[in-house]
Amino acid sequence: MATIELKVPDIGDFKDVEVIELLVRPGDLIKPEQSLLTVESDKASMEIPSSTAGRLVELKVKVGDKVNQGSLMAVIEPIDATATGSVGETASAPAVQPQAPVPTSPPAAIASPAAPVQSLEANAATSRVAPVPMEPGDGDQHVVKAHASPSVRKFARELGVDLSRVRGTGPKLRITQEDVRGYVKDLVTGAAGSVAGPSAAAGDAGAGLGLLPWPKVDFAKFGPIELKPLPRIRRISAANLHRNWVMIPHVTNHDEADVTDLEAFRVALNEERAKAGVKLTMLAFIIKACVNALQRFPEFNASLEGDSLVLKQYWHIGFAADTPNGLMVPVIRDADRKGLSEIATESAELARLARDGKLSPAQMQGGTFSISSLGGIGGTGFTPIVNAPEVAILGVSRTAMRPSWNGAAFVPRLMLPLSLSYDHRVIDGAAAARFNAHLVQLLGDYRRVML
Ligand code: COA
Repeated sequence: MATIELKVPDIGDFKDVEVIELLVRPGDLIKPEQSLLTVESDKASMEIPSSTAGRLVELKVKVGDKVNQGSLMAVIEPIDATATGSVGETASAPAVQPQAPVPTSPPAAIASPAAPVQSLEANAATSRVAPVPMEPGDGDQHVVKAHASPSVRKFARELGVDLSRVRGTGPKLRITQEDVRGYVKDLVTGAAGSVAGPSAAAGDAGAGLGLLPWPKVDFAKFGPIELKPLPRIRRISAANLHRNWVMIPHVTNHDEADVTDLEAFRVALNEERAKAGVKLTMLAFIIKACVNALQRFPEFNASLEGDSLVLKQYWHIGFAADTPNGLMVPVIRDADRKGLSEIATESAELARLARDGKLSPAQMQGGTFSISSLGGIGGTGFTPIVNAPEVAILGVSRTAMRPSWNGAAFVPRLMLPLSLSYDHRVIDGAAAARFNAHLVQLLGDYRRVML
C-alpha cells in the first residue's frame, strides 16, 4: 500500500521538544493541515499539522518522546495520490510558525494557598469541572491562562466552554479534548450541576451560586514549586467529601463521655486475653454503642431520598481508615449481630486491607452510619463530614483526664470527646443532642448497652 512518511517540519528555534499530546489515532481520516500532535518546550506549546490528506497508518511518536525538525512522526496513506505526492515519498509537514504559542504556565488546577487540597481536588475524580471558589482571589494580576493546546482551545470555543472551569488530566494537568468533552457531558448529565451549572460553560462561571471563579495563581512567579499529582484514592475520597460538604447542611454536636470505667474494663479485658491475641479496641466499644443508639434513634440509620427517609433495618457501620493513599471507609456489616471481639478483629483486618490497598469495593459498601476516630492521634474535637447517603457521622477525639465535679469534690475522670455531625435536613439539633447524650450514657456505663 502506498504510504507517505510525515516528518516534523521547521519548528524554528525549538529543539528536543516533548510530545505532550497525540491528536489523532491510526485509522483516522486526516485533512490537510490537520494537527497531528502537540509539542511543548519550556516556553510554549504548538501543534504539528499534516501536510497531506489521507488515512493515518501509524504514529511514530508517543507522548513523552522528544522530537526535532526532521523527526519521523507518522505514516499516512494518501487518499488522493495526485494531490499528496508520489508513492514512497518522504514528506514534511508545512513549516510551523510558532506565532501564537500557548504559554507554558503552571496549570490552572494547582491549588490556591487559601484552598485545602482536599476540597480543591474534589472534582477531579468524578467531574471535569474546576472547583468553585471559597475565597476571593488576589486580583487579576496573577491570573494565568488555562493549560491547553490551540486545538483544544478551538474545540472549547466551538462548544462555548470556559476552559478555566475544566480540570485537566493530561501531562502536567494539561486540558485535553477528552477533558472538554467530559466537562460538557457532566454538565448535560448534571454531574457538574452543584458546582457549575450550564451558565458556567457559557462564560459566567460561578453565576449559579453567585460565587467568584476560583483564583488562579502562577505560583512559580513567586518561588520554586513542585507539582505532585494526588493519588487516585485521595482524588476519589476528595470528590466525595467535596460533594457532601457542598450539598449537605452540616451541624456538629459536641459532647464528652466519661470513659474512666470503660477504659479500665477494656484494659483489664485485654490483659486477661493477652494470650488470645485479640485486642479489644475503644473503636469496637464505640461501634457497639453506636448500634444501640442507632436502634433507639432510627432516623440516624437512614438515607434521604426525595421527600422520603429510607429507614434501614440493618446496621452496617463504616469507620474512617487513614491510609498512605488517602482516606478509606471500610464497613463492618451487621454490627448488631457481632460481639466486641469479632468487631475488634474485623476492624483491625479491614484497616490493614485498607492500608495495603486491598479492600474490595464490597467491603466499602452498604454503610448506614460512619465513625471517624482520631483518638489514637490527638485532638479535642473536630467536625467530620457526613458520608452520603448516610445522614450522620460520629467523630471521636483523644481521651483526656479532666477534673470532674461529683457534687462534693473534683475528681479525675477520663473524658472522651464525641463530635456528631448530621444532615440538618433530616435531623434536628435536639435529636442530635439526644443521640449524643445517649451515647455518653452508654459509654459512661457500658452495662446499658445490654438494655
Ligand atoms: N483516645 C486516646 N487514645 C486512643 C483513643 C482515644 N479515643 N483511641 C485509640 N487510642 C489509642 C489506643 O489505646 C492505642 O494505644 P496503645 O497502642 O497504647 O494501645 C492507640 O491509640 C491505637 O488504637 P487502636 O484502637 O489500635 O486503633 P484506633 O482505634 O485508634 O485506630 C483506625 C484504628 C483504623 C480508626 C485508625 O488507624 C485510623 O485510621 N484513624 C484515622 C481515621 C481518620 O483519618 N479519620 C479522619 C477522617 S476525616
